This record gives sequence, C-alpha cells and structure tokens, in this order.
Amino acid sequence: GQYENIIASKPDPTITLITLNRPKALNALSSPLFHELNSALAAAEVDDEVGCIVLTGSEKAFAAGADIKEMKDIKYHEAYGKDFLGHWAQLSKIRKPIIAAVSGFALGGGCELALMCDIILASPTAKFGQPEINLGVIPGGGGSQRLAKTIGKSRTMELTLTGRTFSAQEAEKWGMVSRVVGEGEGEVVKEAVEMAKLISSRGKLAVQAGKEVVNAAFELPLGEGLRFERRLFQSLFATNDQKEGMAAFAEKRKPTFTHT
Ligand code: HXC
Repeated sequence: GQYENIIASKPDPTITLITLNRPKALNALSSPLFHELNSALAAAEVDDEVGCIVLTGSEKAFAAGADIKEMKDIKYHEAYGKDFLGHWAQLSKIRKPIIAAVSGFALGGGCELALMCDIILASPTAKFGQPEINLGVIPGGGGSQRLAKTIGKSRTMELTLTGRTFSAQEAEKWGMVSRVVGEGEGEVVKEAVEMAKLISSRGKLAVQAGKEVVNAAFELPLGEGLRFERRLFQSLFATNDQKEGMAAFAEKRKPTFTHT
C-alpha cells in the first residue's frame, strides 16, 4: 500500500478511516508512523468529499505510546534543539473533526493522541494511562494540559505522578470519552464510522465552525469565547446552508446541504 505503518481507507466516500498498523510494537508512535499519519490527515483535509476522519488502532492497542526504543538515546541538544516530537502538534491543526476509536492500550503518547482528537469513543477493553513517570519523564504530547482541563487537577496529578492506568469506564465517568460502546470486535470502529457518517451529512461549514468554537473553550477566557461563538454563529447567516437548513425546517422537508 501507500504507507508502511498505517492504513488509510474510505469506508464511505465521506469518511477517511486511518488505522495505526504497527502490530509488532503495539502501534508505538515512531517518527515514521507519525509522519505517515500527518500525510494521511493532510490528504483527508483537502479531500472535498470527506467530512469526518476516524482514527483507530487494533483490538489490542490504540497505541502504546511514543516509540521508547527510538527515543531512549536522544540527547538534550537534539531533543530541544530539533524540537523532538514537535510534528505531533500538526494533528490539532486539522479543521475536519477527528474521532478516536480506542480499543486496548492507549498509553503515554497513545493517550495523548486520543486526547488530541475531537471525540473519543472507547471499547470496554480500552486501557488509558500516562506511564511516562516510570520512564523518568513526563507527558510531552499535551497529556498534562488536556487531561487537567478535561478530568480535573487531582485526577491528572495522580495519574501523572503514579503512572497508573485507568479503564474505559473511569474515562467515561470523568468525561474524557464521550461513551463506551458495546463489547464485540470492531464495535468501536463501527460506532465511530456511523457517527462520522452523521457528521459528514451535516453542512461542512457549520461543522467546521462547531469544532472551532468548542476548541475555543479550551483556549479563551469565557467572555472572549462567548463573543467568538456569537460572531461565528452570526457569520453562518452568510451561508447557503443556513438558508437551506432553516427553509427545509419551515417546509417540513429534509435539507440538502451544498457546503456553501
Ligand atoms: C516501543 C514498544 C512500546 C513503546 C510496546 N512496545 N510499547 N516499543 N515503544 N512505547 C513493544 C515491546 O517492546 C514489544 O516488542 C512489543 O511491543 C509487545 O509489547 P510487550 O511489552 O511484549 O506486550 P505486553 O506484555 O502485552 O505489554 C503491553 C504494555 C507494554 C503494557 C503496553 O508494552 C508497555 O508497558 N509498553 C510501554 C508503555 C509506555 O510506557 N508508554 C509510554 C511511552 S513514553 P518486542 O520487540 O520485545 O516484541 C511516551 C511519551 C509521549 O509516550 C511523548 C509525546 C510527545
């Protein structure tokens, strides 16, 4: 295929499904893997048909973290000087929604990768954690920040300082995953693809705006966030999809969005 460490497919014309595929290393996120992931995401971003992206791993592992063997000998001047793992941040620049479908291990950078996505669906087998402390380091892919904002300080502190793993059920209770799906192989990917289809059927401009405003809640003070949301809401009145969506409601029919 096109890639060595991932599989990119389109289970539906409107969806890109990216499957991490380094089974021998439990999908450890090596640099070659991450560069391929960035390429596949960039391709999905410019594919006009695609309205939503699903990111998944295997039944056994979403991803067991950054590749420890690759990073173990890196020197400080290389890590800091060359912005080691700086390319991980590209995922958070993607404007189409990304759903993480998590089964098995999502540890360290694997947990952080899921947290970078917009929605997390978990299989009951999912096992999350930030075990970096066991390796003499700390999370480096946003885990400390995104977890603290999502599940609170005390839990984040405990997880970061002890390295203990946590279950799909805990993650759901804490609001980190939107839901835990039923048991059964492939169930979490099936659910994620169904959700992605639903999102893709909506007006793309409104979806993009929705993602932008929700993410603003993580970055802006409340007053500015509210103003940003109001302005973006108002701006959608310049789109054909707003006219079509509201006309269709009034005429008791289904809207046909043109993404303009
Ligand atoms: C490199 C890894 C790996 C990793 C697993 N493997 N995780 N290789 N980096 N993160 C490899 C193993 O070395 C082994 O290769 C093969 O995958 C199977 O793993 P086993 O350990 O034999 O499997 P198992 O006994 O089932 O244990 C699963 C596990 C364990 C509990 C997930 O593999 C584990 O603890 N992995 C490391 C988890 C971790 O610490 N992650 C955080 C990394 S730091 P061989 O060749 O022996 O068969 C990080 C920083 C992020 O992520 C910073 C982001 C910017």
